[in-house]
Amino acid sequence: MEIVIADTPDAVAGIAADILAGYARKGATLGLATGSTPLKTYQELIRRHQAGELSFAHCHAYLLDEYVGLSREHEQSYYRTIRTELTDHIDIADENVHSPDGTTGNPMQAARDYDALIAASGGVDVQVLGIGTDGHIGFNEPGSSLSSRTRLKTLHPQTVTDNARFFGGDEDAVPFHVITQGLGTIMEAGHLLMIVTGAAKAEAVAAFVEGPVAAICPASILQFHQRATVIVDQDAAAQLQHSEYYRYALDHKPEGQDF
Ligand code: GLP
Repeated sequence: MEIVIADTPDAVAGIAADILAGYARKGATLGLATGSTPLKTYQELIRRHQAGELSFAHCHAYLLDEYVGLSREHEQSYYRTIRTELTDHIDIADENVHSPDGTTGNPMQAARDYDALIAASGGVDVQVLGIGTDGHIGFNEPGSSLSSRTRLKTLHPQTVTDNARFFGGDEDAVPFHVITQGLGTIMEAGHLLMIVTGAAKAEAVAAFVEGPVAAICPASILQFHQRATVIVDQDAAAQLQHSEYYRYALDHKPEGQDF
């Protein structure tokens, strides 16, 4: 993994946007995440698009996860969220923006279908990831199989509490079933781009970067990926034991090496 410690959340967003812009220029397949963390990155991509610097016309996009039981028009469905926060403001074709279908009567089948759709498309080139305070990526909660495929999951009570802020603070309004790409599915993306900001994530960052690979901390599976870039701000990096080394390694990166 390459650990990039940036000064501020804005700096994190700038670095992440640079990486994603490089993929967009190649007409790549982008893996998108929801949650509050990538919003600054998406705003920067929108800014570059509106400034005429960046086109997504040849890109496809796949979302990580979706709530079960929210209509696609519900403002907190991830189907709607990614359109509101990113894709409605750039020139990607709407039919090229895919997400798991949480509205069918058979979410288990919808999950399998989504996994197959990603594979049939040729896979994701770069996957944006955030992390939950419990170490989840997508909605792969602690205990998730490290080789899991896209499937139906039950949210951890901590995640329900964390996400209630998007539902007017009402935990009862947060669906407790979701469809998420599995850890095995996520690991098939060519490049994983993890973005983390804020002190509330410092413990989770230290656990997945420097702790053991274990299902109790699903994000730790990134340690097995050949190309994972982890961009954190100072607050999120606060509990890393080797932060000085990560800075040093970045400053002394061999020329021509991606990381
Ligand atoms: C959510 C999403 C994840 C996201 C994470 C962190 O529940 N399913 O994809 O990365 O939790 O969210 P936030 O960035 O808002 O802290």
